[in-house]
Amino acid sequence: MTTWITICDTCKRDGWNDGDMAITDGEALAALVETAAAGLTSVRTRRVSCLMGCTRACNVAIQGPGKLNYTLGAFEPSQDAASGIITYAKAHAESDTGRVPYRDWPEAIKGHFVTRHPPLPEGE
Ligand code: FES
Repeated sequence: MTTWITICDTCKRDGWNDGDMAITDGEALAALVETAAAGLTSVRTRRVSCLMGCTRACNVAIQGPGKLNYTLGAFEPSQDAASGIITYAKAHAESDTGRVPYRDWPEAIKGHFVTRHPPLPEGE
């Protein structure tokens, strides 16, 4: 089953105004995640503008139908973060419940979980 990574493309980390401001931090992270996800069948990506976690930029959501879903934040727009997000999303896709054992968490996502959402009841 497909796991979706929803990336906020309007996130700006502290100090963003001091950079060249050509793109937001969220756009930079989104591009890295999209590149890392290219060719994967179990993981897809999409961008949204604001996940309402602005003070913890950069933010992503990891979601799959009928599974535990998560938001994660405080990512730098780095290759390491993008790789960790993808590795975790692949494990989420392989899981029946969305619960990925801690031993399988990539180092880059540890300490970044913000919320967990249980799946909605079916048929209601
Ligand atoms: S701008 Fe990214 S969560 Fe609000």
